[in-house]
Amino acid sequence: MMAGTFAGVALTGTGSAVPDTVLTNDDLAEVVETSDEWIKSRTGISARRLLSPAESLTSLAVQAGKQALSSASLAATDLDLILLATSTANDRFGSATQIQHQLGAKWAVAFDLTAACSGFVFGLVTAAQFIRTGTYRNILLIGADVLSHWVDWSDRRSCVLFGDGAGAVVIQAHWEDRLLGFELRSDGSDHHHLNIASRTQPRTLTNDVSIGQQDFMPIAMNGQEVYKFAVRSVPEVIDKALYRSGVSASELDWLLLHQANKRILDAVALRLAIPPKKVISNLENYGNTSAASIPLALDEWVRLGHIQPGHLIAASGFGAGLSWGAAVFRWAI
Ligand code: UT7
Repeated sequence: MMAGTFAGVALTGTGSAVPDTVLTNDDLAEVVETSDEWIKSRTGISARRLLSPAESLTSLAVQAGKQALSSASLAATDLDLILLATSTANDRFGSATQIQHQLGAKWAVAFDLTAACSGFVFGLVTAAQFIRTGTYRNILLIGADVLSHWVDWSDRRSCVLFGDGAGAVVIQAHWEDRLLGFELRSDGSDHHHLNIASRTQPRTLTNDVSIGQQDFMPIAMNGQEVYKFAVRSVPEVIDKALYRSGVSASELDWLLLHQANKRILDAVALRLAIPPKKVISNLENYGNTSAASIPLALDEWVRLGHIQPGHLIAASGFGAGLSWGAAVFRWAI
């Protein structure tokens, strides 16, 4: 496990999983006052997958993780670390250890990482630090979210956007460093534009001691502010990551953005002068799956054979926190 020397970072396998249940825009029009035409033209989304009450975040994450391990030809017992990027763990203490157990990854340490829709990019950079210091060699990063549990299904301004899913990548030590550069950012001053806020009710324990008892509110979002933030900040952070990588936007094979809204994808690509054919997009079928959206789209593009070993990819996540970040990497080894 201890390599002891600087090691490069390579992404060597992908996997993904989505629930079977499909909710189309027409189905949604039975829930709130909306239309297929409005949702498609404003977001590019046609349908989303929703988790049934019998399924769980961990079952999706395990499925995605198994696929990623198999595509990297790695056994679960070879894993040193499992990172679960999620905002919707099914246990407030974290869900990563349940995944570790279900995968049979008995030597891996496992923990959750929460950075909303930036979780995958933040997780990738976190994994890279463990590899570069020579501490770990084989890491499974899973981005998984079940935002349907937290959506306000009476709020048509937000409920049309989200879907459930999981995506995973295997990240390994490699003699050549394939993670070329990154940039991560946070700004808590705009936290109120997108959150799942907690609510604390006072409770008296004894005459002298009062405590708070907490639960959570549904997703609250100021769509226009989040839209403006994304279109302004994402090109900036990608530019910074490209600069750190020593490559220009024109050299990219693929732009892999968090799948929030087709109009955001188009606007970011336009600002970076990246042609539409290089922009990865599958949000039409899945909506915004939060921390899962980047690895879900990456897995689809790898399996379709569009992404080939050596291809240069800029990935960028952005969302609640506010948080945003970008990473530039060459696919596979
Ligand atoms: O991971 C990050 C997650 N968040 C995001 O990515 C959100 C980013 N923001 C967006 O994607 C867009 O702001 C939305 C898709 C949420 C909204 O699009 P918009 O073009 O900014 O619409 P709007 O909020 O300005 O609303 C325009 C109109 C309003 O009607 P009035 O006041 O002009 O009469 C809304 O009431 O559209 C109405 N509207 C709807 N109509 C039908 C809002 N939601 C709906 C709906 N169906 N679902």
